[in-house]
Amino acid sequence: MSQSGEILKDEFWDDDDIESVEPDDCGKRLKGLLIRVAISLFFIGCCTGAIIFSFINGETGTQHETHRDASKNFSIFIDQYSKKEGLYILTYKLPDDAEDDQEPAVEEFDSFWIQSDTNKTLVHRITQNVTIYAFPTHSYWYDTTNGIKCTFDRSTTYTTYINSLGMTSLVRNHQEYEQTHQGDKVYVYQGNPNEVLLSNVNQTAFLVTAYADAVTGALLAWDTYFTADDHSSDMVYKASYEYSSMTPAKPDPSWFTTPEQCSPN
Ligand SMILES: *[C@@H]1O[C@H](CO)[C@@H](O)[C@H](O)[C@H]1NC(C)=O
Ligand SMILES: *[C@@H]1O[C@H](CO)[C@@H](O)[C@H](O)[C@H]1NC(C)=O
Ligand SMILES: *[C@@H]1O[C@H](CO)[C@@H](O)[C@H](O)[C@H]1NC(C)=O
Ligand SMILES: *[C@@H]1O[C@H](CO)[C@@H](O)[C@H](O)[C@H]1NC(C)=O
Repeated sequence: MSQSGEILKDEFWDDDDIESVEPDDCGKRLKGLLIRVAISLFFIGCCTGAIIFSFINGETGTQHETHRDASKNFSIFIDQYSKKEGLYILTYKLPDDAEDDQEPAVEEFDSFWIQSDTNKTLVHRITQNVTIYAFPTHSYWYDTTNGIKCTFDRSTTYTTYINSLGMTSLVRNHQEYEQTHQGDKVYVYQGNPNEVLLSNVNQTAFLVTAYADAVTGALLAWDTYFTADDHSSDMVYKASYEYSSMTPAKPDPSWFTTPEQCSPN
């Protein structure tokens, strides 16, 4: 909008040769002016159209984004969601006899995170095959490893699941901005590795690092680092979740509907 505003302003006021008008030039100038006005109106029309278009096509839920100052007291307990572009990345430990230039094995899978802290509900795609639907008093584990299986779990809730990620209390140690590899400005926080009890990696965590978007305060990513309890080659060194399009807003309630295989509903 401001762009068309500037076009108008420039067209009208930057004509500093207006004083030297010759009478027979007037018709020509008027015509030129009218053309410019027409062009300006055309741009205003385009702009309005684009805004209306973006309203019609906007994702539901994005209209009430809540931005937070994540420089001091970043918390995971907010309403936020990332339905697409999320990643789950496993980095394996290098074997003890690795060559100097050997790269660690890395696996990458799609993931999503849909959280309503207001309603204490969370849907998290944990691995390629396992998604948790967590509620205030119970949860469902939706597993597609060997056909579809959905398991009711009374002992895991929204709160206990998030606790098990080690991010209930996050402490900021670094004073400067740091960059994630996507190039977003973030604040780096450290979680509590002693709380970590993941369903997907059965090893002891020694560090949890969380990244808060410096602009919106949303949770952009976190890394969990593990000690290797033995020397076998399938030991995980780092498990990461990355949600570069995490939106700090209320998710659509329909996104928490459990699949039909999950009962009792
Ligand atoms: C951070 O602290 C401020 C003021 O103490 C408070 O208003 C805000 O809700 C807190 N934010 C989070 C995410 O806890
Ligand atoms: C909480 O759940 C209710 C019922 O499904 C829904 O109407 C409401 O929008 C939800 N609020 C948030 C913040 O998710
Ligand atoms: C996920 O499921 C696929 C297909 O059933 C299987 O090949 C793969 O090994 C499973 N992955 C894990 C980590 O269980
Ligand atoms: C985790 O590993 C330990 C020892 O390796 C084993 O005793 C335990 O049963 C495992 N737990 C799960 C949930 O796989």
